[in-house]
Amino acid sequence: MQHILNGKQFADQKLLQKIFSRAHELEEADKIGKTPKLLTGKIVATVFYETSTRTRLSFESATEKLGAGVISMADAKTSSAVKGESLEDTIKIISGYADVIILRHPENGAAERAASVSDIPVINAGDGYNEHPTQALLDLYCMQKELGRIDGLKIAFLADLRYQRNVHSLTPIFCQFPNLELYFIGPKELALPQIYKDQLTSAGIKFKELEKIDSVLGEIDVLYVARVFKERFQDESEYERLKKSFFVDKNTLAKMKKDSIVLHVMPRIYEIDREVDKDPRAAYFRQAKGGLYVRMALLLYALGL
Ligand code: CP
Repeated sequence: MQHILNGKQFADQKLLQKIFSRAHELEEADKIGKTPKLLTGKIVATVFYETSTRTRLSFESATEKLGAGVISMADAKTSSAVKGESLEDTIKIISGYADVIILRHPENGAAERAASVSDIPVINAGDGYNEHPTQALLDLYCMQKELGRIDGLKIAFLADLRYQRNVHSLTPIFCQFPNLELYFIGPKELALPQIYKDQLTSAGIKFKELEKIDSVLGEIDVLYVARVFKERFQDESEYERLKKSFFVDKNTLAKMKKDSIVLHVMPRIYEIDREVDKDPRAAYFRQAKGGLYVRMALLLYALGL
């Protein structure tokens, strides 16, 4: 049994490549309709206390493709959480019904709490603004697939780094790639918390914080965009002031290298003009699709298969 709780667990290049090779094999098998039914007889529980489109549905699709069944709590409002049942009791109960739990929860640390009482593997599908390790892995899978490498890339994040939990999971993994150059771009209020900057500094990873992207647009290989995370703000007026902090359009792409890519954690709200979708460098839909295969590989990994 292997819980998947944080990015630090994948701060190991060998393990990362093992997961990515598996994901690639599964992607190739799926193209010809020959996905191995390695999870026949298993049950996967998707337990979501917070909304999701990509994470829940890609895990459910991954489950079905591998031959397992799904039981789902798509919304805490339809569960006994509304009667006041604790996360711990819910997880212990579901441990008796399923073989693996995919958990999304609005509280930081919820996945660790769930794992501490679970008899079956727990996969963190996002806990508050703490971590989102499966998103981090699919981000890296996409970079490797699109650009042929991870180490040596120049990656700019134009994003709400205070709350972008996949970046919090990416940081310890980035520490394994000594030649990366990272740029964190945006208003000071949305800056990457110090704890993650300290991790990068200790590992000797080059990074810069900038308020504007213009000076690096022509150099970067990856422009990674995210929305401002409305649901995490205590003060609505602060969200209203910051919500349109990021915007990418065809003028932005005109300044980027021909062989660069644009990623987005999705959902997109204001950040990328739809016209950008037509540019081959817009990789965000391919990024989300690849997540299906990474999550298939992660289900197998969690179950020791
Ligand atoms: N990227 C991501 O986690 O999307 P969902 O919130 O739709 O799952």
